[in-house]
Amino acid sequence: MKPIGPVNALYPMPTTIVGVTVNGKPNFLAVAHVGILNHGTPQYLSIGLGKVHYSNAGIHENRTFSICMPSEDLMVETDYCGIVTGKKTDKSALFDVFYGELKTAPMIRECPVNMELRLHDILDFKTHEIFIGELVQTHADDSVMTGGKIDIAKLRPLLFDMASVKYWRLGPAVGNCWNAGKSLKK
Ligand SMILES: Cc1cc2nc3c(=O)[nH]c(=O)nc-3n(C[C@H](O)[C@H](O)[C@H](O)COP(=O)(O)O)c2cc1C
Repeated sequence: MKPIGPVNALYPMPTTIVGVTVNGKPNFLAVAHVGILNHGTPQYLSIGLGKVHYSNAGIHENRTFSICMPSEDLMVETDYCGIVTGKKTDKSALFDVFYGELKTAPMIRECPVNMELRLHDILDFKTHEIFIGELVQTHADDSVMTGGKIDIAKLRPLLFDMASVKYWRLGPAVGNCWNAGKSLKK
C-alpha cells in the first residue's frame, strides 16, 4: 500500500443525463458527478457542474433540473451530450422530451428512469457549482420495474470510470445488504 496523491477513488459512478431549460429550450449534458445527500424525506441529490457549461445558467434561471438515467443502450447519445456544448449545438431535438410536475425540467423518454428536481441550494466553488435539488418526482418505465421497485438488472445503468475513461456495465449481485455481515456477529 502506498500513497498515490489525492485521487478521487469513488468511481464507478452512474452516468446520468441532466436536463435543463436554457433560453427557453431543453438542453442536456452528461453528468457523472452526482451525489446522494439527504437520504430521507425529502430526498436531496447533487450534481457538480463546471462553471464553463451552457447548462448552469438555465438552473439559475428556472431553479429546476432533471437527472435522467440512461441504460447501456443510450451510450452514444449520452456521450454526445458530454462532448458537445449547447453554446454551439442545439441538443433540444436529440431525445423525445417530456415534462412532469416541474415545467422547466425536461426529461427523456428514451431513459427508463427520470427524476425531476427543484433547486434547493448552490455551493459555489472556484471552478464548479454544486446544484442541490429536492427530488420532486421520479418517472420509471414498467420495463425496468420489479415488484414496484427500480430493478438495476433491468435498467442496466451506464457506469463511468475516470481512471480508465471508459463506460462499464454492472455485474451480478454478490450478496444481501444489511445481511451479509451477520455471519461475523458474535
Ligand atoms: C461521461 C461524461 C461525464 C461527465 N460528467 C460531468 C460532470 O459530472 N460534471 C460536469 O460539469 N461535466 C461533466 N461532463 C462534461 C459535460 O457533459 C460536457 O462538457 C457538456 O458538453 C456540457 O454541456 P453544455 O455546455 O451544453 O451544458 C461529462 C462528460 C462525459 C462524457
